[in-house]
Amino acid sequence: MISPSTIRQIMDAVRIEEVVGDFVNLKRRGNNLFGLCPFHSEKTPSFSVAPSKNIFKCFGCGRGGDAVHFIMEHEHYTYPEALRYLAAKYNITIEEREPSPEEREAAQKEESLYIVNEFALRFFQQQLFETREGQTIGLSYFKERGFSEETIRRFGLGYAPKAGNSLLQAARSAGYKEELLLELGLITQHQRDFFRERVIFPIFNLTGKPMAFAGRLLGQQTRGPKYINSPESPIYDKSRSLYGISLAQRSIRKQSECLLVEGYTDVISLHQAGLDRAVASSGTSLTSNQVQFIRRFSPNLTILYDGDSAGIQAAVRGLNIALEQDLNVKVAILPEGEDPDSYLRKVGPAEFESWLQEKATDFILFKTERLLEKAQGDPIKKTQGIRELSESLALLPDPLKRAMYVKEAARRLEMEEQNLVDEVNRQIKKRLQQLERQRKNKARQKEADRPQADTRPTTQAPQTPSPDTAQNSETELLRLLILHGNKAYDETQSVAQYAFSQIGSLLDLFQDQQLKNTLLELWEYLQKHQSFPPTEYFLSHPQSGISQLARHFLFPDWGEMSPEWEKRGILLITQETPEQNHHKDCDKTLAHFLLTKYHELIQQNQQRIQQTPPQAAEELEKYMLVQHHLLEKRKELAEKLGLVVPGNRL
Ligand code: UTP
Ligand code: MN
Repeated sequence: MISPSTIRQIMDAVRIEEVVGDFVNLKRRGNNLFGLCPFHSEKTPSFSVAPSKNIFKCFGCGRGGDAVHFIMEHEHYTYPEALRYLAAKYNITIEEREPSPEEREAAQKEESLYIVNEFALRFFQQQLFETREGQTIGLSYFKERGFSEETIRRFGLGYAPKAGNSLLQAARSAGYKEELLLELGLITQHQRDFFRERVIFPIFNLTGKPMAFAGRLLGQQTRGPKYINSPESPIYDKSRSLYGISLAQRSIRKQSECLLVEGYTDVISLHQAGLDRAVASSGTSLTSNQVQFIRRFSPNLTILYDGDSAGIQAAVRGLNIALEQDLNVKVAILPEGEDPDSYLRKVGPAEFESWLQEKATDFILFKTERLLEKAQGDPIKKTQGIRELSESLALLPDPLKRAMYVKEAARRLEMEEQNLVDEVNRQIKKRLQQLERQRKNKARQKEADRPQADTRPTTQAPQTPSPDTAQNSETELLRLLILHGNKAYDETQSVAQYAFSQIGSLLDLFQDQQLKNTLLELWEYLQKHQSFPPTEYFLSHPQSGISQLARHFLFPDWGEMSPEWEKRGILLITQETPEQNHHKDCDKTLAHFLLTKYHELIQQNQQRIQQTPPQAAEELEKYMLVQHHLLEKRKELAEKLGLVVPGNRL
């Protein structure tokens, strides 16, 4: 890990104009330097570098940040990779820091989990190839599907036998800890194997280590769901995993295109046929984390989905997420009733590839075609479709590209280009207005805070949290959202959704305006995209306070993982914090936050009570009732947290 002092040394040495200057031709104008933005195509320079502040900013596409941001963005590097790049540039020797005991423990834990998964992988493979049951049921199934033995081995496919606990027994006699098997979801609470009488598709991380497994029912069986999957674990984060990525990454880089399909079997068939740039999002709709992952290898993404309406829906959803990340997206929808696997088997690899070349449609033409198809002369549907299209267009970060697409779409829709331009601009403005409103609110809040703070008599309630604690609990909340916002809180909602539902109007009581605005922004993002923003969203937040916090949360102590860790397949970006249990973490963080806010409300209300003359009995009673309710609430929360708060008696 890079030591904090090395990081400080790097940050001190770095000159933004020199770092950017290696990639962009910069010309001085006044205090700043300008050039053509490397992140979007433009003819007149709107990309500026401010040496005095050591930051860059593009007025065209909105990207901005410090030298580390620039390198991360430009080279698609992770944070530590960018630091190493800069250290090399400035001849700074990197002093490695010893991992802390907690970090070491977390790494050891992850290491053990991988070892257990590797054991399970071998077990399933051995069952497939070396047992009668595996051969007659599993292997024959794969063969029937046209998978060659080489393919089966390449993808580590396996078989989980019928018997209730053969994996568990094998693991026991090999000396593996049961609790690890349980944590990985390989066995159930009742000491039974989780996967039984299913063929097994291991899910590998980027470096080819098994993170999880999927088990498919055989043939025509109808017992239970078609696929069951390992649950999330410290080594498996579904939203960041892409099926097949370890085998596909080279081709994605080399051919500069990623093929995204829906199913495990689709990936396998495509690879077998030589189309080995295919990965799958594994049944869930594409997440922005997955898109970011893809972008590390290529800016070109072709989404290849089934011809049924669910497939098309999924493609459309994935589209917006990918557009926003500035990928060049194409879409190809298979003929009705086919999936990539079946279609490939039908037409053969050569024809499949040429079908793909011909059929893969640029996203905008795809959306436009679909719009026309759906509207069929119905003006209301058409208007609705145009709005959706405009929303997608508004997401394109590159204005020039956007203009080109608007022109083409208008032509196809046989509408005045200007009308479409107006609609897209309306969508862009909407977002900008939201931001502006937040900014104003913030300013207003500051105004409002000042005189109040001066005139309000200070209270002396002993349990009142100091501003420090209040701020801590606010920061904690942001930490929770940055690290775990996109994880599942329960079956129905993410941590972020749950957190926002709990905070509600208490957001108004935020003391730290920057944090408050960030949460508001995040909330709007969730509303708008129905998905959680990518890590970069926080890391390159225009407010340096926020991006610093994000870095601090994501890379504690400014640390990073050693090359060994990377080799072991723990990518920095997937590094888990010690509190793996984000559900509990969420409850605790929220309760703590709410507790401090209730403290404040109780205090404020108490003041109101004190300031109300005794004659105003009705009003007084109302305030007392409120106070009672607040105190109850606070007690509840304190109990939840295991704190004992002496009731704030009146
Ligand atoms: P499909 O039903 O298309 O499965 O679901 P498939 O992989 O193509 O399998 P075959 O070819 O029909 O045998 C597509 C993907 O959706 C997820 C899996 O990731 C699957 O590969 N899925 C599907 C589940 O997670 N659970 C399910 O019950 C069904
Ligand atoms: Mn399928």
